[in-house]
This record gives sequence, structure tokens and C-alpha cells, in this order.
Amino acid sequence: MTLSRSDDTTLIKIGLRSDLPAPGTVKEFFAAGRFLCLANVEGIVYATNNVCPHWGGPLGQGKIINGKIVCPWHNWEFDPRTGETRRKLNARLTMHRVIVDGEDVLIEFRDET
Ligand code: FES
Repeated sequence: MTLSRSDDTTLIKIGLRSDLPAPGTVKEFFAAGRFLCLANVEGIVYATNNVCPHWGGPLGQGKIINGKIVCPWHNWEFDPRTGETRRKLNARLTMHRVIVDGEDVLIEFRDET
């Protein structure tokens, strides 16, 4: 299911509530032609692009440690609320809003034109 909206965003269904990562874990999803990392940090689910800005590690195969998304390759840590890392200024993950609508999980993508 894909819904284009008038505010330059698109909603894409990526799965069901039961597909979401358990608290304290991350999981990879594929949607809109790309892999995403969904991270459940203390019961709040965040979505980001899955490619680490360091050397491209798959963030959805990483971990949550002390409330941060940790890349599995070299342990860079990212704030799930902002996508920022303390390792490198201006290296930031692209974050996407997660919407749970009943049993459906949708991700909001900002249109890239
Ligand atoms: S590739 Fe992610 S920390 Fe190096």
C-alpha cells in the first residue's frame, strides 16, 4: 500500500505491528526500493535508512546499547531521535516517521525531487 500525500510525503506500508522489532532490538525492512533499519528503543520505534554513513554497514543488523543504534561493523552510535552521531560532525542518518495504524505499520518518506 502506497499513499501519496499533498505535503510532499508518501506513506508506505512495510508490515504489521507483529513484525516490529522487540524492545531493545533492531530489524531490517525493505520498502520503497531500499532497506530500512527499524529500532525499538524503550518501546518507541524509529526508522532510518539502513546504510551507516561510516563505511556502509547494515544498521538493521546492529544493536541498541544505552539507547543508541550501534552499527555492527565499527560500533558507531547513532541517536535514534535525530540520527546524529558523536563520531563525525555532519554524519547523520535519514530518519523516517513510523505510523502504526491499527495493525498496519507505515513509514513516511519525504519525496526527493
Ligand atoms: S560501517 Fe558503521 S561504524 Fe563503520
